[in-house]
Amino acid sequence: PRSIDLAVIPGDGIGPEVTAEAVKVLRAVLGSAVELALTEYPLGAEHWLATGETLPEATLGRLRGHDAILFGAVGAAPGDTRIPSGLIERELLLRLRFSLDHFVNLRPSRLYPGVPGPLADPGVIDFVVVREGTEGPYTGNGGTLRGGTPHEVATEVSLNTAHGVERVVRDAFRRAAARRKKLTLVHKHNVLVYAGHLWKRTVEAVAAEFPEVTHDYLHVDAAMIFLVTDPSRFDVIVTDNLFGDIVTDLAAAVTGGIGLAASANLNMDRTAPSMFEPVHGSAPDIAGRQLADPTAAILSAALLLQHLGLGDHAARIERAVEEDIAGRSGARSTSAVGDAIAAAVS
Ligand code: NAD
Ligand code: IPM
Ligand code: MN
Repeated sequence: PRSIDLAVIPGDGIGPEVTAEAVKVLRAVLGSAVELALTEYPLGAEHWLATGETLPEATLGRLRGHDAILFGAVGAAPGDTRIPSGLIERELLLRLRFSLDHFVNLRPSRLYPGVPGPLADPGVIDFVVVREGTEGPYTGNGGTLRGGTPHEVATEVSLNTAHGVERVVRDAFRRAAARRKKLTLVHKHNVLVYAGHLWKRTVEAVAAEFPEVTHDYLHVDAAMIFLVTDPSRFDVIVTDNLFGDIVTDLAAAVTGGIGLAASANLNMDRTAPSMFEPVHGSAPDIAGRQLADPTAAILSAALLLQHLGLGDHAARIERAVEEDIAGRSGARSTSAVGDAIAAAVS
């Protein structure tokens, strides 16, 4: 493309700090070759406190018109009693993922050379988690009975449809076919028998279309062992929305930390814009002090360029990040990291 019409939702906490650096790097790498038009949307917990709005229908409508969305992070500090827990997460972030049909939540994990990780002998770590993005226990399909009494009953029903599981499993197989040709389904079908068997049967069925890809299965608890003891065994992991959330924070931790973990919420049918965001949250504990690592947001911007067909530009960002990481010694401010990577890609 000659131009990108980008929506930016900086959000709360460190969201605006890291998003500013991702935009800086996007401008630097695109230069004058590709025009970058930005529209900023003030949404998030702070915006809700000021206006009572989470995501108005009209705003969602305008967001649909952009080529892509760059998202920072949203959410209040855990102890903040001014905002009901989950309100912003559900009514803004999850509503975006669901309404824009972001059925592939792509979360790559690579251990870059020179990154100090927590594992003594990590080997080569290079896998992607294909996390389902529109179903599972995230759909708000739950309820409570006799609330507040000793007999309260609370349910959160995990929703899994054949259509929803099949499209994400097929996407994961495609990605595996283009990589090291190994797919691992992570679930828990020894306990979650209905959803678990739907996932397992779907993987078996779709596998027939990809004879070159080998596949295996791990229960999610055992998968957590291997993620720490033998992470190089993984190439593509496909899993549901909730397991994927948990797996990808651990994946981030073994590859140098949450400050490096990027993600893409992809509508692979391209019926609505995809959304790119770091895996981390608003980090209230370090917000406003230029302490956040913007690398996860910058790598998410690279995923954005990749999705829009600018793979060469994306690769330039990835190379610059890799070099920047390899040369890291002392602490740098959020903007200093962004400046260094922007300089390297321009
Ligand atoms: P968090 O990811 O915000 O923070 C966890 C820990 O990681 C904190 O110690 C934080 O300082 C650190 N951290 C996070 N990002 C970092 C970065 N870029 N550089 C350095 N350190 C970083 O998770 P949390 O504390 O569980 O959640 C805080 C708020 O964010 C909650 O309201 C939560 O709901 C929300 N949240 C939002 C998103 C999102 O917008 N996509 C994701 C996760 C959590
Ligand atoms: C993430 C976050 C979100 C999720 C929350 C904030 C809704 O943890 O993007 O990983 O669970 O998907
Ligand atoms: Mn998460």
